Amino acid sequence: MVMAAGQGTRMHSDLVKVLHPLGGTPMVGHVLELCRRLGVKRTLVVIGHQAERVRDALAPFANGVEFIIQTEQRGTAHAVLQTEAALQGFQGDLLVINGDVPLMTDALAETLLGTHRKTRAHATVITTKLDDPRGYGRVLRDRRGAFKGIVEEVEATASQRRVKEINAGIYCFSAPRVFAALRQVRPSAVKGEMYLPEALPILVKAGGRVASVLADDPREVLGINTRAELAEAYGILRLRVVNRLMEVGVTCLDPATTHVSALSRVGRDSVLYPQVQIEGYTEIGEGCTVHSGCRIRDSRLGNRVTVLDGCVILESEIADEAAIGPYAHLRPESRIRRKAKVGNFVEIKKSLIGEGSKVPHLTYVGDAIVGERVNIGAGTITCNYDGFAKHQTVIEDEVFIGSNVSLVAPVRIGCGAMVAAGSTITQDVAPDSLAFGRAQQVNKEGRAAVIRRARTKP
Ligand code: UD1
Ligand code: CA
Repeated sequence: MVMAAGQGTRMHSDLVKVLHPLGGTPMVGHVLELCRRLGVKRTLVVIGHQAERVRDALAPFANGVEFIIQTEQRGTAHAVLQTEAALQGFQGDLLVINGDVPLMTDALAETLLGTHRKTRAHATVITTKLDDPRGYGRVLRDRRGAFKGIVEEVEATASQRRVKEINAGIYCFSAPRVFAALRQVRPSAVKGEMYLPEALPILVKAGGRVASVLADDPREVLGINTRAELAEAYGILRLRVVNRLMEVGVTCLDPATTHVSALSRVGRDSVLYPQVQIEGYTEIGEGCTVHSGCRIRDSRLGNRVTVLDGCVILESEIADEAAIGPYAHLRPESRIRRKAKVGNFVEIKKSLIGEGSKVPHLTYVGDAIVGERVNIGAGTITCNYDGFAKHQTVIEDEVFIGSNVSLVAPVRIGCGAMVAAGSTITQDVAPDSLAFGRAQQVNKEGRAAVIRRARTKP
């Protein structure tokens, strides 16, 4: 069960804490992904604050997840108690995770479950040692090191606050035992909340064993209460992903400024320049180069694709050996075929650019189908919108479009046709034709000299 009902006051946010994005995924989504990978039988998420919003935001991660409402947030013990009815008759192990501890690895979770079973404990807690334990519950032990209990910081004495071993907020319980113990937890003296860790000494008193697992790397159990901790967690997650990429053969020229979402993939011998941001579910093939200042989201790049500086690429597909940028904007549903080129200051929207075609400069292509080996001159615009609806432009294979052409859609330029520079094209052009759609030029001989003389008279 995942605890996600709190508001997260220390975030100072209108958005409930567990939905704050961490590398593009809601914080608690990371916890649900972990549960999925562990293959747990059932996942219960306790929600309360902004319950509907949490439920909606978690839909992509919540396949088979059961949501349980905690109407009033009376503490973590109270949160676990809300699942009692749903778990009626369940005799197994209950993994309980704070929704704001998103960086735990599968290995640590397996160690927790393994230790719990091996020691036949009634409860097993993950702890870690921090130089600065501020904000966490401190683990109290007797002289021989046996577990005594956990004291929350606000309730701790000065000497207890000096304890460096903290409660990570990740537990495994024997389900029937924990509910019996939780019913005996009393509200705390200071905050009036029912604390889940209070169930631990109750289990010990009842003759049960409480085991613990010390996480060697405290970064795995960072709890996020503040924006600073959110940034810290993102830094940890980011480095994990970047290190994994380098291990599989990706060059990150400046790992400190390379941002790649955990769900994205980059192939070997690809090179990521400084300040690159790859988001969502993006797949980049082998031998690609992505230069500085690019943001690529939910897109697929083939092999040996070059993306020059400053591009934004969203929900698009780019085939092998295509070249994009600098400063190109590929909006959703753009498909760039093999060896095509989309150059400087070009915007593409919901269009296909065929194999070997070139759109090198200052152009807008929207709702268009562009064939193979087409050349589109600088400053060309598909006029796809008439103020009411969008219309399609079709440019067939081997068409040559001169510079500064307006193609007023719907319109079709036939195979092998040419369109003169500066044309406004409102009618279809037949294959192999030459289209002029501009005013006739008139030259008046000697007229410039006459004007100049008139202007410069004393
Ligand atoms: C908790 C632990 C603390 C531990 C720390 C680790 C308690 C009392 N304290 O403190 O020992 O060191 O986590 O990060 O458990 N929640 C609910 N319902 C509630 C209250 C909280 O669902 O009524 C959820 C919150 O949304 C959050 C999680 O439980 O995801 C933890 O709550 P939080 O208030 O952050 O606990 P901490 O003070 O961090
Ligand atoms: Ca917390």
